[in-house]
Amino acid sequence: MRISELAAELDVTSAFIIAELKKLKITDKTASSSIDKPSIGSVRKAVASLSAKALAAENEKARKAAQKRTSSKKETPKETPAEKSVEAPIDEEAVRKARKEKEESDARQKAKAEEDRKNAERTAAQKKKEAEDAQRKADNEMRLRVEETKRKEKELAAKKKVEMEETRQLEKMFEDEERARREQEAKTVIIEEAMVVKEFAEKLRVPVSEIIKRLFLKGTAVTLNQIIGIDLAIELAKEMGFTVKVKELVEAVVGKSEAVDTSHLPIRPPVVTIMGHVDHGKTSLLDAIRKTDVAGKEAGGITQHIGAYSIVTPSGSVTFIDTPGHEAFTALRARGAKVTDLVVLVVAADDGVMPQTVEAINHAKAANVSILVAVNKIDKPGAMPDKVKQELTKFGLVAEEWGGQTVFCNVSAKTGQGLDHLLEMIQLQADVLDLRAEPNIDAVATVIESRLEKNRGPVATIIVNRGTLKIGDSFVVGIVSGKVRALVNDKGQQIKEAGPSMPVEMLGAADACSPGEVLTVVDTERKARQISQSRIDAMRDKKSGTKQHIRLENVVESLHEGSMLDLKIVLKADTQGSVEAVSELLSKLAYVHVKLMVIHSGVGAITETDVMLADASDAIVIGFNVRPTEKAKQLALKEKIDLRLYNVIYEVADNITAAVKGMLKPRLVEKTVGRAEVRNSFKVSKIGTIAGCMVMDGQIKRGMLCRLLRDNVVVFTSTVSSLRRFKDDVREVQSGYECGIGIENYNDIKVGDVIEVFIKEEVAQQVTA
Ligand code: GTP
Ligand code: MG
Repeated sequence: MRISELAAELDVTSAFIIAELKKLKITDKTASSSIDKPSIGSVRKAVASLSAKALAAENEKARKAAQKRTSSKKETPKETPAEKSVEAPIDEEAVRKARKEKEESDARQKAKAEEDRKNAERTAAQKKKEAEDAQRKADNEMRLRVEETKRKEKELAAKKKVEMEETRQLEKMFEDEERARREQEAKTVIIEEAMVVKEFAEKLRVPVSEIIKRLFLKGTAVTLNQIIGIDLAIELAKEMGFTVKVKELVEAVVGKSEAVDTSHLPIRPPVVTIMGHVDHGKTSLLDAIRKTDVAGKEAGGITQHIGAYSIVTPSGSVTFIDTPGHEAFTALRARGAKVTDLVVLVVAADDGVMPQTVEAINHAKAANVSILVAVNKIDKPGAMPDKVKQELTKFGLVAEEWGGQTVFCNVSAKTGQGLDHLLEMIQLQADVLDLRAEPNIDAVATVIESRLEKNRGPVATIIVNRGTLKIGDSFVVGIVSGKVRALVNDKGQQIKEAGPSMPVEMLGAADACSPGEVLTVVDTERKARQISQSRIDAMRDKKSGTKQHIRLENVVESLHEGSMLDLKIVLKADTQGSVEAVSELLSKLAYVHVKLMVIHSGVGAITETDVMLADASDAIVIGFNVRPTEKAKQLALKEKIDLRLYNVIYEVADNITAAVKGMLKPRLVEKTVGRAEVRNSFKVSKIGTIAGCMVMDGQIKRGMLCRLLRDNVVVFTSTVSSLRRFKDDVREVQSGYECGIGIENYNDIKVGDVIEVFIKEEVAQQVTA
């Protein structure tokens, strides 16, 4: 087989085959030479071992080598035959060597190229992977960010929704409240004192005819301009479904003015009352004080025009009330007036604490007014001011220098000694009390004195509590109305207006009024007359018009659920020993809901003053071995003060304890009487189920309350309707015996149930005396 034929068959070049043959050390072949079988086999093997690509490369290489050879053969004629002949054999070897080297270098290059390519591929793959990773990471991050943003948005939206819901609910709440308020307001009516029928109808926004009709049905025929009493007005408004608010005239709240925040108001002068035992020098002291009045001195001479007067001291003004004593003070207080800011208790240094001194202390304390002690007559040889101080400690008045809180001033009305200091102390106390009042409102004032003068008509001495009273003001004071005609100050001068704490004489009341009554300025004279008229009507309706006082037998009503009742007592006895004995006994009586408070005690008959104190303080009066004076008795009757007289000390305790017990509502307490266990149960026609029982403890009685317990749980509460022993009806069965029990209205009795029989007992509440 020729080489060319083999080349065609194997689809390689002849050069390739020749090159292969050369590898087999067969070198003398050309394309046309034939080759033997083993060589053909080797060539086939070589071709088969090569890949198509390698084959193509080898082919190409062989082809190029053959070409080169051919071209070099063509060039050879240029070479000298000598040269050729010399180099030819060496060339062959060198060529082979060079070819081999070249082949090796080609192979190396190829391998390197392959390696580079692979490296490049690897790097590219690596880079691609890295890029992909980075992309994936970025994608991931982006996704997370988007998710986070979405979550946040969602959260925000939810929060906003909640907020909106809350706002909506709040708005709704406000709306509801507002609506309720408006509805309530529409249905709320403010009822004033002394409205005429027409006004009342306008307030209720109903036709006058409706009111007149309703009043007529109640048995009261009225006309348009007739006054409708406040009680009737309230009743009618309530009947018509209104919520009633009563507009109190200011006077009712005069005493409560402490509760109002007055800190922004201007300071007003203190109103001081001087009290003390007879002849201890009250009047002298007041006279002496008035002599210190700067203004008074300037006016040249002092004339007391009215029962109260204003003193200008270097540290400010003070208003003194010149009352005959604590009776008047308490009389004022009994009418609900609280005019006094401070009490100056006058005690003569040579006489010491006397009965009326003690009364004065108790009256001041009952009125909750602070006390300043003026120890008078220190100029006298027998004066012992420290003894007075000592004695007063017993009554809770302990001097500041002795660790207490009471200011003591040693004075002499005769020499004027210590008066400046006293005034200073009064001002100091006033500063502590921080007395303030609004001057720019309609006045509220208290009547101190009142009298009828022939030429001037009714004259009232008043002290303005707050606001400013002006000439021309319409007012009502108690049942009296009026219009201020003239105002005269304590120096006898005509003035046009009077401000807070100012004492002034007033003309213009339609009638004389009573001390302690409160004057209130109202809009018009007509209104004043209406109020006055309605008060007169109300008084007539209530007959006496006096307020209810506490009485031992009616304290039950005075006791409010869960609250403590202070039962105030004014105690009078025959001797100091009795006073102490009864006081001690009373102090030992203590009850759960009632506290006994002896607000005043003394030796001697029950006087008008005692009754007045009881009236003002809502107390009862206890007399031990003493009787009331005729006047006191009358006053007690008139003011409905509970006057209790005893001769035996134990009666006092028994009587009060009985009253206190009586005032406590009895409680119902359960007491178990017996228990029976159900051992059997059988039905009896017409009767129902009967439980065959064993009485475990106590006894079972027919007709008693009972309850059925199953596993200690109350199943039914009823009464024992039937009780039998054997065939006989019995009234009761003792423990340890068997019996048949029927329960009223209950048949579902089971074995093992327990029937408990009990009673309810009324128990007076525990007295802890
Ligand atoms: P009644 O109004 O009756 O309760 O008496 P009162 O407390 O007003 O006493 P009054 O001022 O009338 O004085 C009684 C007596 O004591 C008079 O004789 C006064 O002169 C006298 N007196 C008052 N103060 C002093 C004083 O400081 N020194 C002296 N030596 N005598 C005085
Ligand atoms: Mg006097």
